[in-house]
Amino acid sequence: MEKRHIFLIGFMGSGKSTIANYLYKKYGMLQLDMDQYIEKEEGRSVSSIFAQEGEAYFRKLETEFLKSFDEKEAFVVSCGGGVPMNERNVQEMRKKGIIVLLHAQPETIYQRIKNSHHRPLLENNMTESYIENLMEQRWAVYEQAADVIVTTDHRNAEEISTEILEKTKMQGERV
Ligand code: S3P
Repeated sequence: MEKRHIFLIGFMGSGKSTIANYLYKKYGMLQLDMDQYIEKEEGRSVSSIFAQEGEAYFRKLETEFLKSFDEKEAFVVSCGGGVPMNERNVQEMRKKGIIVLLHAQPETIYQRIKNSHHRPLLENNMTESYIENLMEQRWAVYEQAADVIVTTDHRNAEEISTEILEKTKMQGERV
């Protein structure tokens, strides 16, 4: 059967990287973190890219990554929170795999990421209401892009991963 990638999308702090890491540790599923990949390629952090080149340049890098992503093995790719906002990115992900949206409430997100400092969009806006607002602006597009939606509030990585694997299998064709 055809091997397909799993693209984890969702708001910052929804659990994408944590879950991709867990799927690797527990099931040996290969994983790739888009932000980390871009940081390595560019030799600088996402925050530096935003500060030095602007957001549009970073968005171009995301699209270039997805267009050229051509691994033969099935990967779990954790995407930056802005990735689905570009329709071209959604088309690329659709072609190459299944899109899983991780969702958490703004208060959960806020509690998870309030002390972190590597997300330029939130650096001077780290409040629950800002998160809620940005999530509202993005939600319809996220939902539209998703093949599968899994909520992550008050759940551990085991529960979330099990649901992802069940739901992606139900969609068929994987591995
Ligand atoms: C962004 C999310 C970040 C990172 C960048 C922009 C966004 O990734 O790509 O700071 O627009 O939501 P995470 O979702 O992994 O935090």
